[in-house]
Amino acid sequence: MKVLIADLFSQAAIEEIQRSGIELVYNHQLNGDSLAAELTNFAPEILVVRSTKVTSQHINASPALEFIIRAGAGTDNIDSKAASSKGIYVANCPGKNSIAVAELVLALMLSVDRRIPEGVALLKQGKWNKGLFAECFGIKGRKIGIIGLGAIGREVSVRAKSFGMDVCGTDPFVSPEQTRALGIEYCSNAEEVSRISDVITFHVPATPETRGMINSAFIANCKENVVLINTSRGDIVNEQELLHELNQRAGLWYACDVYQGEPAVKEGDFVHALAQHPRVYGTHHIGASTKQAENAIGQEALRMILQYHRSRTVDAA
Ligand code: MLT
Repeated sequence: MKVLIADLFSQAAIEEIQRSGIELVYNHQLNGDSLAAELTNFAPEILVVRSTKVTSQHINASPALEFIIRAGAGTDNIDSKAASSKGIYVANCPGKNSIAVAELVLALMLSVDRRIPEGVALLKQGKWNKGLFAECFGIKGRKIGIIGLGAIGREVSVRAKSFGMDVCGTDPFVSPEQTRALGIEYCSNAEEVSRISDVITFHVPATPETRGMINSAFIANCKENVVLINTSRGDIVNEQELLHELNQRAGLWYACDVYQGEPAVKEGDFVHALAQHPRVYGTHHIGASTKQAENAIGQEALRMILQYHRSRTVDAA
């Protein structure tokens, strides 16, 4: 069996695959045409990707492909429709990077509250400015609203409570009883969350229902000094409307890890009006980028590869 890994991947899992006798090509520089060429020439049965986009062009260029593994939670960088039309199975690794993403949410929230990136930048320029940060509020007793109470939203809740925050949340798939059992104040929808929260964090996939949900209408219901945090997907934001609101409302902050049209390549230029706004703190889609999360994802992908190698079947997580 042949496996192609076209993204940075856990070294321990790579060594395990090599020991198993599976033929492996590991090239994290592949994307676009170079990925299509490798899929044709090496003709793997299994393809593993993280950020790299897999389009119908790639599916059609793959004579032997049977199984695509997304080394992450979402599968939106894979054309799953084109894959299933060719009988190619697509699987993800849900829940394996939830803690890493939750940790980033807390880091972003604290960064906004204490203006840490600006303070660090000033010191690097040789400037001391204690007065600039006099507005920092503190987070104890403030309310965080969680939109999407899956694995990541729940990990955020646990950590926010440890800081003494009140937590409310909403999720169409989690009942009021289940929400309360998690120690989270139940809200029936995102609008209710928006009215009562000081910080709002989004943990939803990009679907027709969630696309553009961070928009002017949503922000109109929010408190004056609300902090919005998006570590889910760029597509859940109407970026033009959010930019407009940031320019209109001096108290609004936005912290994010994801952007519309963000690069699929690992490094390169990225000029983005939202990311450059003074009241936006952006990171580089690194929510899942901890050694702990990458090892957990690597082990889950490895489990699926070895099972598929043995039996041509796979038990999804
Ligand atoms: C995910 O879908 O789990 C993340 O976006 C993964 C990643 O950052 O690669």
